[in-house]
Amino acid sequence: MNKNSAIQTVGILTSGGDAPGMNAAIRAVARTAWAKGLNVKGIYRGYSGLLKQEIFDMDKSFTCDIISRGGTVLYTARCEEFKELEAQERAAQICRDNGIDGLIVIGGDGSFRGAQKLAAQGINTVALPGTIDLDIACTEYTIGFDTAVNTAMQAIDKIRDSSTSHERCSIIEVMGRNAGYIALWCGIASGAEDIIIPERFDGNRPKLEGKLIDSIMEKKAIGKKHHLIINAEGIGHSYGMAKRIEQATHVETRASILGYMQRGGSPTAKDRVYASYMGALAVDLLCAGATNRVVGYRNGQYIDYDIEDALGMAKDVDEYEFEIAQILGR
Ligand code: ADP
Ligand code: F6P
Repeated sequence: MNKNSAIQTVGILTSGGDAPGMNAAIRAVARTAWAKGLNVKGIYRGYSGLLKQEIFDMDKSFTCDIISRGGTVLYTARCEEFKELEAQERAAQICRDNGIDGLIVIGGDGSFRGAQKLAAQGINTVALPGTIDLDIACTEYTIGFDTAVNTAMQAIDKIRDSSTSHERCSIIEVMGRNAGYIALWCGIASGAEDIIIPERFDGNRPKLEGKLIDSIMEKKAIGKKHHLIINAEGIGHSYGMAKRIEQATHVETRASILGYMQRGGSPTAKDRVYASYMGALAVDLLCAGATNRVVGYRNGQYIDYDIEDALGMAKDVDEYEFEIAQILGR
């Protein structure tokens, strides 16, 4: 038993959308905890599994051969019930009954709120940012973003080959919920002619499509053989847009929605390494007596914030980066 920390048993769960690199974080949490002489309990299926007591003693074999796997070996879930105070009180009691005195939650903003509610019930919690969307304000990195961008980029490269061969326009819709980071990164990495993101969309669809039509005609006039438009999920409507653009430009236009392939696959080295450091830091924080914290990465350093402060932060796409993306597509 660990003699230097108030924490004896660390629980871990994954919640919300899965993201590649979550397994690396789970592995790092468990192995760091064991190195400190702590016990580790895995909780299946997020807060839903916690309420159903899907709790097990994690052993070394559980963390073997998982670092290279996408998804989450703890499974994940969304759980509406957990938003109710009664469920939070019950979950805290379940943690106490199972000897869990520190809980690490890997997920997005919603999952952080759950961790915050458990902290209010007296369970020490630390959250890790696990989402492909990069839409968490307190951090410049989220677990899974790098893999998702690379996966989407590879798919877009393939669509580009077909697009060039047919001299077509392709609208490719990428994930990101209400955030345009995946679209922006994929757009630059794929050399897209246009990138459209919710952060720079005023809601006027005819105006947006008018600009795209002008852009296609300009590129056609200088002899471009394809035209790639990366559309963020937060803007959506890719199929309708493709129809209207084709009618207006007489350039054959196809839409592809990449979908869940962006959430899967073996994590990149970056996602494995950053997730590993974040997992280790989460355990260190719990052992230092921290609670209600979220781990982030900012200015080259791993840091942590109070969850309330983190949730109150705002995030926007950097204007300079967006301008450069526009220039490079011309
Ligand atoms: P993400 O964590 O990816 O943002 P969600 O927003 O779906 O995903 O949240 C994941 C889960 O976190 C929810 O299903 C719910 O169990 C829990 N959660 C979200 N918001 C709250 C809240 N206000 N209070 C308690 N739990 C919450
Ligand atoms: O948050 C990750 C994400 O894949 C978003 O990009 C997308 O909007 C959402 O999850 C889809 O969620 P679900 O798995 O509930 O369909």
